[in-house]
Amino acid sequence: MKTAAILNKNQLSKDDITHLLMLQDEHEIELLYKKADEVRKKYCGDEVHLRGIIEFSNYCEQDCLYCGLRKSNNKLKRYRMSVDEILSSAKAIHDTGIRTIVLQSGEDIYFGSEEIRDIIKSIKTKFNTAVTLSLGERSFEDYKMWKDAGADRYLLKHETANVKLYSMYHQAQSLRDRIGHLLYLKKLGYQIGSGNLIGLPFQTIEDIAEDLLLCRELDVDMASISPFIPSPYTPYKHHQSPALTDTLKTIASARIVLKDAHIPATAALSALDEKGRERGLRVGANVVMPNFTPAPYKAYYEIYPNKYLTTEDPVKRTLRITAMIESLGRRISASQGDSLKQKVLA
Ligand code: 5AD
Repeated sequence: MKTAAILNKNQLSKDDITHLLMLQDEHEIELLYKKADEVRKKYCGDEVHLRGIIEFSNYCEQDCLYCGLRKSNNKLKRYRMSVDEILSSAKAIHDTGIRTIVLQSGEDIYFGSEEIRDIIKSIKTKFNTAVTLSLGERSFEDYKMWKDAGADRYLLKHETANVKLYSMYHQAQSLRDRIGHLLYLKKLGYQIGSGNLIGLPFQTIEDIAEDLLLCRELDVDMASISPFIPSPYTPYKHHQSPALTDTLKTIASARIVLKDAHIPATAALSALDEKGRERGLRVGANVVMPNFTPAPYKAYYEIYPNKYLTTEDPVKRTLRITAMIESLGRRISASQGDSLKQKVLA
C-alpha cells in the first residue's frame, strides 16, 4: 500500500507501521511528519505539558546491558538524595509553575515502601501537583500503598516488546512480568506510561512496530519513545545510536497509532541532537520533562552520556524550553496534564 493510503487509515496494522518506519524518501517522510502533527493537534491540541523530574537515587539492583546505572558499573559515583533535598527540588518545580513532579530512581530498595509513601504524601500535601513515580518494578503492595498515598501516575517502560531480546537485555526480568506490572498499575487507577528504546543491538524494525502495537494494546496514557545512546562501562558501549530520523519516524508513527496518548520529546532525544526536543515536538510529541535534579547529583545520573548536558539552573533552563515551545506556536499547559483518555471518559 502507498504511504498516503496508510496515513489515511484509522487503525494501522503491523505491516502498515513497518512501512512507515522504513520510509526513506524525503517527501514521504514529510507526509508522515505532517500527518503526525495533524493527529497531535486534533487529539492533544497545542498545549505542551511540562513534567519536572527529580532523579533522587542512581543506585540500581538491575544489570540491564544497555544502561549506565547497571549495578556492575562500578565506575559510576552513586548517590541518594535526602528527603529534604527531594522536597526542596519538588518546591523548585512547583514554584516554576510546573504541575507534575516525576520521582525517578534506579531500582533501589534502600528507599523503603513507607519512605516513598511519606515523600508522596508530603508532596501532595504541600503542593498542588500530580505525582508520577518511575522507580522500576516494585511489589504490588507498594504500588497499592503509593496509590493510596496520592500518587497519580506510574512510568514503567516495556523497553522492547520482543520477548527474547527483553530477556537478553534484562536477564533477571521478563517481559511477561513487566506487562503484568503495567496491567496491575492500571487496575489500581494509575495513569500508566510505557514505551521503548529505538536502535538497541539486534532489534529490528518489526520489533519496533510491535512496541507501538503493545502500547496500543495496553492503552497507555503516555508512551516514551527514546533513542538508545551507547553508554561507556556497559556491554553495548560500541554499538551506535540510531539516526535522528529513525527516532522521529517512530515518534510520528506512535502519534498516529496512539492518537491521544501523551508522548514526550525525551531527554535522550535532546542528547542525540541539540534540536532533538524541538524536532520531536514538531512530529507528534506534546510533553517535555525538564530535569530538576540538583548539582552535583544530576551529572551522576548517567544512564548515557549527554554531550549537551548543561550546568544551567533548572529554572533558567525551563524558561529557555518554554521560549522554544512558544516559538513553535504552541503554549505551555497550566494544568496537571492528566491523561487525555480520562478526560474523554469523565
Ligand atoms: N540510552 C537511552 N536510554 C536508556 N535507558 C537506559 N539505558 C539507555 C541508553 N543507553 C532508559 C531506559 C530506562 C531508563 C532507566 O533509561 O528506557 O527505562
